[in-house]
Amino acid sequence: MTLTKVSLQIYTMNSNVSKYVKDITAIEKMRAAGQKAARVLEMIEPYVKIGVSTDQLNTLCHDFIVDELKCTPAPLNYRGFPKSICTSLNQVVCHGIPNEKLLKDGDILNIDITVIHDGYHGDTSKMFLIGEKVPILARRLCKVAQEALYLGISMVKPGQDLKKIGQAIESYAEKNNYSSVREYCGHGIGTEFHEENFQVLHYDSPSIPSTILEPGLTFTIEPMINAGTKKVRLLQDKWTVVTKDRKPSAQWEHTILVTDQGAEILTLRSEEKI
Ligand code: MF3
Ligand code: CO
Ligand code: CO
Repeated sequence: MTLTKVSLQIYTMNSNVSKYVKDITAIEKMRAAGQKAARVLEMIEPYVKIGVSTDQLNTLCHDFIVDELKCTPAPLNYRGFPKSICTSLNQVVCHGIPNEKLLKDGDILNIDITVIHDGYHGDTSKMFLIGEKVPILARRLCKVAQEALYLGISMVKPGQDLKKIGQAIESYAEKNNYSSVREYCGHGIGTEFHEENFQVLHYDSPSIPSTILEPGLTFTIEPMINAGTKKVRLLQDKWTVVTKDRKPSAQWEHTILVTDQGAEILTLRSEEKI
C-alpha cells in the first residue's frame, strides 16, 4: 500500500503501533536515556568551533558517553556505522561520518547523538553555526528546521494522527520556500534504536496509512529541511546522505513521549524554553 521505512530507509508499511506502548518502568528508563543524550549535546557545545575536526568531536563525545555517563554510543557498529556520533556538514542531510576535515567559518553542522542507558535509547540532534560568517540563508534554514520540529512536537497528543504532523512539517518547510526530505524519517524508539513498524514521516501522502498516537509511545521527530530540492543522494560510503543539488540541509531531533495531555520532550536541553 504505502512506503515507509525499515529502520533507516523506507520500505515497509506502518502497522498499529499499540505494541510499542511503554510501561512506567520503561518510561523512567527512557527519561534517563533522553536526559543523558541531551547532556552530550550540552557538553560538546563549547568545542564546536572553527578549526576542530568532526573526528575530534566524535572522540570527545565517545569518551564522555562511556566514561562520564556510563552509557553506550548507539551508532558505533550499528549496521556497520564506524563512529560513535553522526556529524552532518552543510549539504550533508544526515548520517555523516566524522572525519579529519576541520570546521571553518560559515559552516553549519548537525551533531546527532544516540546513547543506550540501561537498555533504552535516547536520540537527539541539533544544528551548530560555525564562526561569524554563516550566510543568512543557512541561518534561516537552521531556524526554520528547528521551528518545524517544535511545530511537530506541539501537535503530539493521544488520538493525533502522525499523518497530520508530517503534513504540517512539510507545509511549514514549503511555506518558507524549503523542502522536507522523504527518504529518511523519525522512528519509534525504546530498547530498539529504530522500532521497525513505527515510522514518523515528515510529509504526508494519500497512500500513507494513519498512525494514531497513544499515551506511552516514545518516538523521534527529526525533520531534515533542504534549502533547495528535497531529493537526496547516498554517497559511496553507503552512509553519508547529501542533497542532490548540494545546497545546505538542516535537521533537529528530539525523543518524545506521548503523555495523557500531550507530549513530554525526553531530550530537552536547558537552553530550550518551550
Ligand atoms: N541517530 C540517527 C537517527 O536519528 C540514526 C543514526 S544511525 C547511524 O535515527 F548508524 F548512522 F548512526
Ligand atoms: Co532518530
Ligand atoms: Co538521531
